[in-house]
Amino acid sequence: MRNWHSVTDAAALAAEAAAQIVTLARSAIAATGRFHVALSGGSTPRALYARLVAEPIDWARVHVFWGDERCVPPDHPDSNYRMAFDVLLSKVPVPVDNVHRLRGEVDPAQAAADYEAELRRDLPAGRFDLVLLGLGPDAHTASLFPGTIAVHEQQRWVIGHFVQKLGVNRLTLTPPILNRAAHILFLVAGADKAAAVRSVWREPYDPDRFPAQVIKPIDGEVTWLIDRAAASNLEDVAS
Ligand code: 6PG
Repeated sequence: MRNWHSVTDAAALAAEAAAQIVTLARSAIAATGRFHVALSGGSTPRALYARLVAEPIDWARVHVFWGDERCVPPDHPDSNYRMAFDVLLSKVPVPVDNVHRLRGEVDPAQAAADYEAELRRDLPAGRFDLVLLGLGPDAHTASLFPGTIAVHEQQRWVIGHFVQKLGVNRLTLTPPILNRAAHILFLVAGADKAAAVRSVWREPYDPDRFPAQVIKPIDGEVTWLIDRAAASNLEDVAS
């Protein structure tokens, strides 16, 4: 079943997401002593990350990963790592060794292989406590883009691939590792996402056209946090 939570706007989405993250972090740390979270990139999560700075999270016990990364250096303006570092990670006491960066500056195949090894070493049972995901207007998520083989990857946990549509290489986690997560939180705001939300929720399963449909946790939960503008193409938002 798909959980959904409609919020008024992007600011309310950041507030609701922050509250859910605090709760999930607290319960994971109480249960295992650690909280393993994969951050999403793009612009939507920026307000959330800024809000998390002041939230009561035991950062010493948090391990931060990424769901995808642009193939650029970590100080590049397009880097998902740089956005999270500037807005959040440079402002909280997360240990340096707990920040597991996808290395966008190296050869994509090598970076993907290295990250998979890191996940197999540092992510118990390959299971994230939480994965944050965004949704593109074309229904992509992470860097699983329409028409790319990444959408159908069943073995590797991380791949580097050339995204024809963008004309760039991207690093991305794949459905096998994403769908092992205990919780997946989609953060979707803005009218430009309304068509994609409707397609992912209402169209028959067709991941080549609607990649976000591949997100189906094996035994975890998916929650969609959607603002009114992004939900505007749904008559009702009941799942
Ligand atoms: C990225 C993201 C990507 C993003 C969506 C939505 O690297 O860009 O991982 O999947 O979540 O494109 O991006 P916005 O939040 O900027 O709309």
